[in-house]
Amino acid sequence: KNNRDLPGALLAWYNRHARRLPWRAPPGAKPDPYRVWLSEIMLQQTTVVTVGPYFERFVARWPSVQALAASPLEEILTEWAGLGYYARARNLHRAAQMVTDKFDGRFPDDEAGLKSLPGIGDYTAAAIAAIAFDRPAAVLDGNIERVTSRLYAITEPLPGVKPVLRRLVAEITPRQRPGDFAQAMMDLGAMVCQPARPRCLLCPLVRFCEGSAQGIAAELPRKAAK
Ligand code: ADE
Repeated sequence: KNNRDLPGALLAWYNRHARRLPWRAPPGAKPDPYRVWLSEIMLQQTTVVTVGPYFERFVARWPSVQALAASPLEEILTEWAGLGYYARARNLHRAAQMVTDKFDGRFPDDEAGLKSLPGIGDYTAAAIAAIAFDRPAAVLDGNIERVTSRLYAITEPLPGVKPVLRRLVAEITPRQRPGDFAQAMMDLGAMVCQPARPRCLLCPLVRFCEGSAQGIAAELPRKAAK
């Protein structure tokens, strides 16, 4: 299939259907890297619905990376209570201090620089580079793995096939609005291309989707036997 028009079709859908999540800048506004970073750390092991109120309380109490860096760790841990995986909160504090002290208060704007901060791995670096800094990074989370494996009818199992999926995501990620593209893939996975029941009739990408054409979308992605 010819995927030249895929990013445009997805972004047109996102313009109408994007979830209004508290860490997303309003349409047309510049994203705040601090808010993007904070939300991506919280979302690493926690759902969108749970993160919402925690994110709001954090940015109300610590509106900037400098404010977070200056806070006692104990207060951050108290505010984090309930999110779990407390190593994330400790890394959050260390990363805020590094950005404040070593990077002059500004987050690094590429994947390599971002990965030098504690708590930021491949996924999070790509997500922040794309969403906060408009870099055409290949963002691959669980939703995007599912959408991509269906688009290309990838039948080899996860996790082995991940590098293939990453290459395919890199191929379709546009230079225009790469952060919106990544978040549109997440929203499509959450709202339309759902795990057990893909709603192909509603999908803006159905004409590009090999999994739907073959009638196997609902069975993908496959997972290696445990
Ligand atoms: N999960 C991780 N990052 C996300 C984002 N920016 N929007 C929605 N879900 C996410």
